[in-house]
Amino acid sequence: MAAFTGQKIIVVGGSSGIGLGVARAALENGADVVIVGRSPDKLRAAEQSLDAGLQVRSVVADMTEEADLARLFQNAGAFDHLVSTAGTPPPGDPIERTDMAMVRRFVDNKLIGAVMLAKHAAATLRRDGSMIFTSGINKDRPPIPGGAVVSAIAGSFGFFARALALELAPRRVNIVSPGWVDTPMWDEIVGEAKSGFFAGMAGRLPAGRIATPADVAPAYLYLMQSAFTTGETIHIDGGHCLI
Ligand SMILES: NC(=O)c1ccc[n+]([C@@H]2O[C@H](COP(=O)([O-])OP(=O)(O)OC[C@H]3O[C@@H](n4cnc5c(N)ncnc54)[C@H](OP(=O)(O)O)[C@@H]3O)[C@@H](O)[C@H]2O)c1
Repeated sequence: MAAFTGQKIIVVGGSSGIGLGVARAALENGADVVIVGRSPDKLRAAEQSLDAGLQVRSVVADMTEEADLARLFQNAGAFDHLVSTAGTPPPGDPIERTDMAMVRRFVDNKLIGAVMLAKHAAATLRRDGSMIFTSGINKDRPPIPGGAVVSAIAGSFGFFARALALELAPRRVNIVSPGWVDTPMWDEIVGEAKSGFFAGMAGRLPAGRIATPADVAPAYLYLMQSAFTTGETIHIDGGHCLI
């Protein structure tokens, strides 16, 4: 029997990039997976690419909308693991030129959205289940200039998980912190310059290349399975923290 047979896993952000990779790995290991995102088109394309029949279901929900999350978790019923990879490109302007409206949208989506997810997921998450949120290398190696906001928000997730792990015990709460992963988010941030950015970074990384979603998905699966790991952050960045 596969490791996750009979388990229900909800992946918010599962229609693209890292979340889609987690959904694929969980399905391959026998889980029933619910992928969640705002765009019905992205969800449809993701379901098609996953090609997993009734094992996968998609739900349109915006994690900044409390009513969407209440409906999502009411309809999902009891479940085993919540993964959130949801996020939008971070603000990147030098601090003197900070666009405060963009900062508020980013914080609302990434951080307040995570708080709201935890609030609505807690009631129906099984006692031996877990929540996994996503931070990132920007907290350790902030882009300069313009990295202060993303660094602060990504950095806050480690403390969020430690406090929630105590409050929600015995349910577990952990964080995955990826390095650079080749996903559609990069196309949005740097567009055609992506291959140049990636070649430069790959040359500096101990791993010698940029990750794919399949490279980082095992960190999420490990945290779901490891019954003795809670309040922890796993860095999976090809050695990016070292350079
Ligand atoms: N890629 C990297 O190199 C990297 C490195 C470190 C950390 N990270 C972090 O990892 C996370 C995932 O990144 P990615 O590269 O996989 O991005 P991506 O390919 O753009 O995927 C983001 C996913 O989040 C969903 N989403 C965004 N806002 C949402 C909301 N309010 N409610 C529900 N779903 C929402 C998107 O779907 P909709 O747009 O349809 O809602 C999409 O499914 C981000 O938070 C990012 O900061 C990424």
